[in-house]
Amino acid sequence: MTLCCIVFLVVFLSSQGCTAEDITSGRYDMRIVDSIHGSPKLNTNHFRLLSGQKLSQLHQPSEGLNDVEGTYEADMKLKPVQEIEIMNGVHTLDGAGRFKRKVVNNLEYVWPKGIVVFKFNDFANILPNHIKTTVLSAIEKWERTTCLRFREMSEDVKRQVGHSNYVIFSKGPGCSSYVGMANNGPQEITISESCNNVVSVAHEIGHSLGFYHEQSRPDRDYFVNIITENIKPGFEGDFKKYDQQTIETREMYDVGSAMHYGPTWFSKDNTAHTIEPKDKGLLGIMGQRDELSFIDIKTANELYKCNAGCANRLDCKNDGYIGPNCECVCPYPLSGKTCEDVKRGTLGCGGILTGRSGTFTSPNFPNNYTDDADCYWLIQATSKSDITVRFDTFEVEDDGSICRYDWLEIRKYGIGLAGPKFCGNGPSDQIVYSGSALMLHFHSDEHYTFKGFRATYTITPK
Ligand SMILES: *[C@@H]1O[C@H](CO)[C@@H](O)[C@H](O)[C@H]1NC(C)=O
Ligand SMILES: [Zn+2]
Repeated sequence: MTLCCIVFLVVFLSSQGCTAEDITSGRYDMRIVDSIHGSPKLNTNHFRLLSGQKLSQLHQPSEGLNDVEGTYEADMKLKPVQEIEIMNGVHTLDGAGRFKRKVVNNLEYVWPKGIVVFKFNDFANILPNHIKTTVLSAIEKWERTTCLRFREMSEDVKRQVGHSNYVIFSKGPGCSSYVGMANNGPQEITISESCNNVVSVAHEIGHSLGFYHEQSRPDRDYFVNIITENIKPGFEGDFKKYDQQTIETREMYDVGSAMHYGPTWFSKDNTAHTIEPKDKGLLGIMGQRDELSFIDIKTANELYKCNAGCANRLDCKNDGYIGPNCECVCPYPLSGKTCEDVKRGTLGCGGILTGRSGTFTSPNFPNNYTDDADCYWLIQATSKSDITVRFDTFEVEDDGSICRYDWLEIRKYGIGLAGPKFCGNGPSDQIVYSGSALMLHFHSDEHYTFKGFRATYTITPK
């Protein structure tokens, strides 16, 4: 149940740095349950114990469901009052008017100073060591790519951050997390064997940093179709769309986000699609849990203002951005000080194409391409242009569905976003991309080669 990732939503936060003073009395207890173990009994007492919260409407899994993340997934969990209000689009928290802003539109939902305080549950539902190792790797993933720092709870750390909220990692009957920092002392992230995977845990941590599911974005209907009749009865709520006051969309919609559901999640028969990208070439990447996507990481960096201290502002090109160490962070496979360069391919294939028009081919064309090839082309215009790519030959190993063996990915939604993958006879029509640079990636695996493709491109400045 894994493929790629990209984009999301973030709790809507305003902008100034966060200090302890920003933490006010409001509470935000949105909990997202990503999967629940196949056992029909959920230990809700445990949740109550830790969060003071009743998960009264938590869906009970049916017998026999496997508990891979997303195969069973319950709705976001809210305190009853908030639940009603959010569902109705009313965003004041209580009659006292303490909390006029949209629930998530508040600094208290980000971790002050970018420090996520956590501990491993040492009291009940203790994580086995092998899952702890996964959690530490997931933490490392966020720390390596952002300015976020995770600190084990202690009196010193509490003093340093100025509050006593913390994430507590427990063994769950499933995988769940709250969205953002819940201003309520401990907030649980549960992990079960089924989500004992680094990126699945990074996903749960992502919720606690402020991420909603990508497909809950207010603009999701432009990018995905929800196939309601295939949803397991009672789970329609998991496909809910939230409004802009609840979810701020900072970046383009990212079908490849590690915060996106996969196509068969909550499916009535585990195979019919409940959610599909409008662009079928993205089907293979949707729901991936192999990596945090470029946009996942970028969004977290923005949310936590990771480059705020950078004095000299580099002009990062090609959708790159200034990262926590003040250098450009580039979408794969770009590199260089300002993301102007592209990774060399196998046998020297690929490269940067700057002419107004030209031709490029798969390696060895017109002979068959080689096994284990990767080629990267960056068609670089000098200004915003229409970049058109047409194929006069396209013969690439076809897997009959999502192009998992050999493929050409065309990043037609932007360099930092997953693009559709093509195999078989390729795109049925020319591809027109509007922007200043178009990225393509050809990949072949270790078996079977075909003739490949020949493409012609033209750049038409606007
Ligand atoms: C070369 O490619 C063609 C189709 O493009 C394929 O039918 C053939 O089997 C390939 N030859 C080899 C030696 O792999
Ligand atoms: Zn989730």
